[in-house]
Amino acid sequence: MWHPYTQMNDWKKFDVITKGDGMWLIDSKGNKLLDGVASMWCNVWGHSKKELVNSMIKQTKKLQHSSLFNLTNDQAELLGEKLVKISPGMSKVFYSDDGSTAMEIAIKMAIQYWQNIGKKNKIKFVTLDNGYHGDTVGAMSIGYVPTFFSKFKNILFPVIKTPTPHKYRMPKKFTYREYQEYCLEKIEKTFVKNNDLAAFVMESGAQIAGGVIIYPIEFQKKISQLCKKYNVLFILDEIATGFGRLGSFIEYYAQKSIPDIVSYGKMLTGGYLPLAATLTSQKIYDSYLGNYEDMKHFFHGHTFTGNPLACATALTNLELYDKNNLISKNKIKTKQIERRVGEISNLSIVGDVRHKGMLMAIELVCNKNKKTPISPDKKIHQKIFVEAKKHKIYLRTLGHIMMLVPPLAISEKELEFLLDGAIDIIKKVTKDV
Ligand SMILES: Cc1ncc(COP(=O)(O)O)c(C=O)c1O
Repeated sequence: MWHPYTQMNDWKKFDVITKGDGMWLIDSKGNKLLDGVASMWCNVWGHSKKELVNSMIKQTKKLQHSSLFNLTNDQAELLGEKLVKISPGMSKVFYSDDGSTAMEIAIKMAIQYWQNIGKKNKIKFVTLDNGYHGDTVGAMSIGYVPTFFSKFKNILFPVIKTPTPHKYRMPKKFTYREYQEYCLEKIEKTFVKNNDLAAFVMESGAQIAGGVIIYPIEFQKKISQLCKKYNVLFILDEIATGFGRLGSFIEYYAQKSIPDIVSYGKMLTGGYLPLAATLTSQKIYDSYLGNYEDMKHFFHGHTFTGNPLACATALTNLELYDKNNLISKNKIKTKQIERRVGEISNLSIVGDVRHKGMLMAIELVCNKNKKTPISPDKKIHQKIFVEAKKHKIYLRTLGHIMMLVPPLAISEKELEFLLDGAIDIIKKVTKDV
């Protein structure tokens, strides 16, 4: 097997996970690991949650898959209704299987929208530096993280990039406030200069894979206002940040920025099955209506679009959010994480700690004053993984950035275990870097 984002020479042997029990992953030898990254940021309730498993069994007995080409299915319909209800400003749902595809759909939906209304020149995208929207070619184009994608640069479509207000790594000549203004001015100037823009695309609330950069208050809202003013569609990616990761159920609503198109994925099924959704407004949907020969319908679809098993699981997952009052309960755990920020910041190789909701990023540096990131040849990602395992924790870093992304329903005790473990792991790897 060939593993994602992995130098296979360095990893001859992998632990084989055979079971999941609550917040713990259990390998073939019976060793337990606390799932410190929510199995790539998607697990909500921990593993083997009874209600989700039962819902999957119940649906499996009835209908496993049936296509949305010329037919519909009850679970996809019910989930569609629910998603529209919880997503202010959105009227229609287009299903897919993963986050990257949901973003490809967003790109195509925007482009064809402008064609449908006769504005064929509006084909360009504007995005923030260091955004990430997935690994397919369109998603790499709009979400270019240089260390991930430089090999593919030559085949990506051109996108206009504007700076991200990254407080820790912004140019020295600005105050943070000035830099925010500067970033917004750059966007506005781009909008003024180009009349061929299809959409502005950004992650909602924070950039995650590009280094966990949490936007300042009002930044996203102001971009949404600029989009309206200059007739540019506003596309949000809530794949990693929605459904409570940053502390709000619908992050764009908390940011007071209603998009034209928004994508959900990861935690939509509680992290149990692959499902993603791209939602849009009535205005965009209506532009696709016409006679068949107008060729205005959306030219996109996948085999598993609207898979009933995944949709049933998502419905149960969303019910559980309500029943358990998860979002408001997590405020206590957010405070619990916050309380440890100072202690972590003081560690000798910690340059910056960024935290919001149920997410913490710890940027590791070899020189605090110069903010020099620990270089890849130190293999810090691997050392942290190995040391974390000794602490009975599963961690996956983003290069020199350690991420704590627990399942949202983690208990306070297990969260303390994760935070204590993280501090100890950093102390242990310090001598190697
Ligand atoms: C913000 C964001 N968008 C899109 C994606 C891509 O999702 P997937 O890995 O399901 O294709 C990710 C994955 O981490 C993400 O963080």
